[in-house]
Amino acid sequence: MPDIACLNGTITPLNDAKVSVNDRGFLFGDGVYEVIRTYGSRPFRLEAHLDRLYQSLSQVRIVPNWERATLTAWIDAVLARAGHAETKIYVQVTRGVAPRNHPFPPVPPTTLVTATEIHPLPADVVRAGVAAISMPDIRWARCDVKSLNLLPNVLARQAALDAGAFEALFVGDGVVREGSSSNVFGVIGGALVTPPLGPRLLPGVSRAYLLEVARDLGLTVHERDLSLAELQAADEVFLTGTTIEVLGVTRIDGATIGNGTVGPVTRRLAARFRPAARAAG
Ligand SMILES: Cc1ncc(COP(=O)(O)O)c(C=O)c1O
Repeated sequence: MPDIACLNGTITPLNDAKVSVNDRGFLFGDGVYEVIRTYGSRPFRLEAHLDRLYQSLSQVRIVPNWERATLTAWIDAVLARAGHAETKIYVQVTRGVAPRNHPFPPVPPTTLVTATEIHPLPADVVRAGVAAISMPDIRWARCDVKSLNLLPNVLARQAALDAGAFEALFVGDGVVREGSSSNVFGVIGGALVTPPLGPRLLPGVSRAYLLEVARDLGLTVHERDLSLAELQAADEVFLTGTTIEVLGVTRIDGATIGNGTVGPVTRRLAARFRPAARAAG
């Protein structure tokens, strides 16, 4: 099945889509993005992703030159053309193409939508859980904006892989914020604990959905700050994200979480998350 792109409304095979070297996304990382996945071939929580995209655009003062319905039509079109069983949809909007100069140029934004096949994590990885490391949070103070500027996230993720771990957890001002591309939860005394939303972390669509699932299951949820030591001492820890869904963490910086296996609350939430996501569309 082909991977498909829609660049400023023109649909092509992904490899045929080309942008200028003067695109400000390339020169400055001057843009924002979203990653959306399908369940049962339908984009999951599309409106929440589009709301967050509009929020990111307005925070960085990029004015889209399309209506929301047009963007939705482009997403539907790449999905239909790609025809994958399940798809990862990537949407990127940059400030457009102009000779390199910092001030905003009077040009339309560049809007890219791609559809590629989603590759779920291997079942044995999900079953066993993963290791994480902590990293000082050196990112900017607006991590609620889904900006293209991902250098600290890229460096942190690679540091995790280099250390034999899967994810890096950003820690700043004595509290854990989120992973390099995931939100983080602890299970402490039977209750779920996750850092509160604010400018230092991304309001994950999966995070919001997980909280709905947890409340449906009757779990107590606390959105509050957590120190790294508190998270390491939690009974269970897990990550959420569009592509990883719910993923247990069994070690942080070498310290074993709980009994070192993916715990019962994580397994219960993960089991509910995916079928419910499919049903919720
Ligand atoms: C920094 C960061 N936090 C959290 C998430 C999870 O967000 P979502 O559940 O919307 O995929 C992501 C996703 O890529 C991310 O990059």
